[in-house]
Amino acid sequence: MSSISYLNGTFLPASEARISPLDRGFIFGDGIYEVIPAYGSKLFRLDEHLKRLDDNLAAVRIKQPLTNAEWKSVLNEIVTRNQPIHGDEQSIYLQVTRGVAARDHGFPDDHVTPTLFIMSTALKPLPASIAEQGVAAITHEDIRWKNCHIKSISLLGNILLRQHAYDDEAVEAVLIRDGEVTEGAASNLFAVIDSELITPPKGPLLLPGITRDLILELAQQHNIPAREASITPAQLINADEAWLTSSTKEILPVTMLDGAPVGNGKPGALWQQMMQHYQAYKQQLRNM
Ligand code: PDD
Repeated sequence: MSSISYLNGTFLPASEARISPLDRGFIFGDGIYEVIPAYGSKLFRLDEHLKRLDDNLAAVRIKQPLTNAEWKSVLNEIVTRNQPIHGDEQSIYLQVTRGVAARDHGFPDDHVTPTLFIMSTALKPLPASIAEQGVAAITHEDIRWKNCHIKSISLLGNILLRQHAYDDEAVEAVLIRDGEVTEGAASNLFAVIDSELITPPKGPLLLPGITRDLILELAQQHNIPAREASITPAQLINADEAWLTSSTKEILPVTMLDGAPVGNGKPGALWQQMMQHYQAYKQQLRNM
């Protein structure tokens, strides 16, 4: 059975969805996206994802195509329609592009309507080996632009960086800009230094991750010392723990960085503690 997608007002099998090659998403990568997990068929941190989408569309001056209520209704319907295919745990991808227009770098006329596409894939549980061994990462200079707070569909820099990691048999590239680590190619970064959880502050050099915010919230709720502060590559390699966070990968413990062990080379105690809080938070949503 083909998964069900949504394109410009119509629900249809993903394999039948068609857009024009003149779409500015295709021609220029001119669009914004979100990835929202669903647990027990409930969309995770939906208000937060919709707020970031709204902020990002405004930042690049693409018309917001739907109201918040319309977004919620369409996104919930995608989850429901894909339940027979993917089950209750899904990853919902949405993207809004500036629409179809003759190729010109400048914005098209106001009458051009944005293209809206949504799809669902099954969200698979993370392999058990992660809790036992953690994952390997590399560091790399950040080769992206200077508006990394915008969740742009132009991801060539991120793709090249992620591939560098895969080429080195690592799962992620931790990015360095001006002597500080910022985030991963598709994840945010945390370090445990002197029993304190630290993540680089928000700004134009990293995406304000929804998972990142939740982890800071959970840390506060559970009296885990945490703060936002810059981290140098040297601090990261000497940290007791390093984590990478995202909507699809949750919290990955980095146990090898550039071929050297992080901490004792095993997923750390604070990671285990935070994972329990994170799983409990997901379970609350499933039970709602
Ligand atoms: N990526 N930083 C970057 C560059 C990202 O692409 C992502 C997520 C994150 C984490 O954000 P969040 O916690 O809101 O998922 C940070 C998604 C999952 C992707 O591109 O597939």
